[in-house]
Amino acid sequence: MSKIFVDACRGKKTPYTPVWMMRQAGRYLPEYMEVRAEAGDFLSLCKDPKKACEVSLQPVDIVGVDAAIMFSDILVVPLEMGMELKFVKGEGPVFSNPITSLEDVEKLDVQKAANELKYVYDTIKLIRGKLAADKALIGFCGAPWTLATYMIEGQGTKTYNKVKKMIYTNPNLMHALLAKVTEALKLYMENQIKSGIDVAMVFDSWAVALEQSAYFEFSWKYIKELTSFLKKNYPDTPIIVFPKGISGYLDEIDGEFDVFGVDWSTPMELAKEKLGDKYILQGNMEPTRLYDKKAIDEGVDRVIKVMKNERHIFNLGHGILPDVPVENAKYFIKTVQEKTKNL
Ligand code: CP3
Repeated sequence: MSKIFVDACRGKKTPYTPVWMMRQAGRYLPEYMEVRAEAGDFLSLCKDPKKACEVSLQPVDIVGVDAAIMFSDILVVPLEMGMELKFVKGEGPVFSNPITSLEDVEKLDVQKAANELKYVYDTIKLIRGKLAADKALIGFCGAPWTLATYMIEGQGTKTYNKVKKMIYTNPNLMHALLAKVTEALKLYMENQIKSGIDVAMVFDSWAVALEQSAYFEFSWKYIKELTSFLKKNYPDTPIIVFPKGISGYLDEIDGEFDVFGVDWSTPMELAKEKLGDKYILQGNMEPTRLYDKKAIDEGVDRVIKVMKNERHIFNLGHGILPDVPVENAKYFIKTVQEKTKNL
């Protein structure tokens, strides 16, 4: 059975524009909070395939999105490469042994990570078994740069001083880390594809931290290496890339992938002008419009005016926030599906 989401990734004309939301399996859903409470904490939920499967399916069943995204986190890769990870309440993720030297990089274990991430592959198999045949399953990983940033900073940061100090004072160490993370991601995404994902997505949430030359040297180069590897070996699996906050650098974007994720700060017109012929575009309603139905209507109309129902996947321009009313999320999905019908 054909999947409207996969068809859209391939540039086929679809009956309406498929739609999903980044972070759709999450805290705005009371049903998610229930399962997470049963699991104990966030990482235990990631490591429990049955529960992770259950929360992955919730947004499909409750909100009506056209694709499920497997429930996990980008940081399970550094965790299984040998780093100590905790999710601290109110602070987000924390690595207690951040990377500072080449010895630290050498200790990271690529093969161990690919094997230990079996709970993710098991989650994918369970979801694919239960998900309707016409809905797509999205697998994902973090971009090497975004993962390396967490691995060096040890936690979220506003200034990125440790990681930026490294790129200008010790670029070789940075490249050694990025190369190793990229190798782990190749195996990880390969295993996700073999386990049954329909589409692969790469999140580069911290692209925004870098000036243009540094972005292409320390991030985009490695994203391209990863997507070229996947395209060469798995040409039938569409790939989405989402580099957040680089609207000024769109002229330099190239590489082997299918869909470019547009963040909310990039005008859709600009993304279409620069990249719309080469790639399908995904995005980009400002996520906080979800607080208000009139704001949703306006936001949806703006994007439709530019993209019509052509070479487009509807999404938010970043993740849904935990305090958004579920009713509004449902309204957003239904509005997109209805307004793009027969366009
Ligand atoms: O629904 C989905 O999109 C699938 C699951 C998913 C999660 N994280 C679940 C999650 C995905 C795709 C991610 C990606 C992710 N994780 C990114 C890239 C995308 C982005 O949003 O920029 C990043 C940077 C992370 C790292 C991360 N994980 C942070 C910074 C946090 C804490 C944030 C916060 O709001 O507290 C997490 C935890 C996390 N990952 C949660 C969820 C549902 C919240 C955990 C909880 O239940 O308390």
